[in-house]
Amino acid sequence: MTAAADIIVTKAEHSKLKDINLENIPFGKYFTDHMLEADYEDGEWKNVEIKPYQPLLLAPSLAALHYGQAIFEGIKAYKNADGEAFIFRPYDNFKRFNISAERMEMPQVPEEIFIEGMRMLIDIDKSWIPEKKEHSLYIRPFMFSSDEMIGVRPSEKYKFIVILSPTGPYYAAPMKINVEEKFVRAVPGGIGYAKAAGNYGAAMYPTAQARKQGYDQVLWIDALEHKYVQECGTMNVFFIIGKTAVTPNLDAGTILAGVTRDSVIILLKEMGYTVEERPISINEIIEAHKNGTLHDVFGTGTAATISFIKELKYKDYIMNFDVEKWIATPEVKKRMDAIKYGIEADTHGWMYRI
Ligand code: COI
Repeated sequence: MTAAADIIVTKAEHSKLKDINLENIPFGKYFTDHMLEADYEDGEWKNVEIKPYQPLLLAPSLAALHYGQAIFEGIKAYKNADGEAFIFRPYDNFKRFNISAERMEMPQVPEEIFIEGMRMLIDIDKSWIPEKKEHSLYIRPFMFSSDEMIGVRPSEKYKFIVILSPTGPYYAAPMKINVEEKFVRAVPGGIGYAKAAGNYGAAMYPTAQARKQGYDQVLWIDALEHKYVQECGTMNVFFIIGKTAVTPNLDAGTILAGVTRDSVIILLKEMGYTVEERPISINEIIEAHKNGTLHDVFGTGTAATISFIKELKYKDYIMNFDVEKWIATPEVKKRMDAIKYGIEADTHGWMYRI
């Protein structure tokens, strides 16, 4: 086990922050002055170090590059009006990271490295946390196999790294979504519930096809019956039908258990909505649109937070939504932001003080 005292800290000589305007920053483009790096070798974590952000020197035979044993997380840190820094629900991401690690036959990362290392890293770079609304410090922990060997087997060595990126909104405007009929994101028994790099790589071709047709993202449907909605691009998805919020259930292991998803479920219940986590078919959505009960459609994710969907297309049927008239989505987003930016009391214990 690595205690905080075992994390070696080497500070950067100069900060790059003076060259960067922390307002209206694109997602994932800039990185802070420091990173955390740790090695897994001989069955234990070692060389846990916070050091200046720098390139990695990797062998071309690196196992992760060939067989994709690679997982990651997305977490965000915020500053309140008094300049105090907090991480949003880091323990939930920590647990999910290790669930992904198990599915990909990778070692567990202990709390002392994941949580304490991340806390120390953000503490060092906390002047990088933007203060502007819709902005935050995006935290990217990731792990990959690092054996230098081109045989297909689980690696014996791994690298765990955390990098930090000050960021603005991921989706700046309400989105147009195409329901994907041919390609699927996940199958029962597959890796849909894991935050594995390959899930994102496999989504790029179908997403590029949707973009060519003028859509921002795809709505994934199930692989077996091609009927039930799963995720929307890189987000979980919600439908407000009457006074009920419906979101696909997680039981088949095909959907990522989003931390924002879970938070939105809790807040919607507090707002008086009935929340149903259950299979929802594209036909049910179309029916609700036809009979006027489908009000809001939105995606949730760490990067995307709560993103409005203004158009949903399935085959030739196009559903357009007047997002200006929505009630539930703006309200749940307002409540979530109020907690994250310290405007409202954190009654759920979601904000982890750095
Ligand atoms: C996140 O929501 O944090 C993700 O990992 C999605 C990614 C596309 C940025």
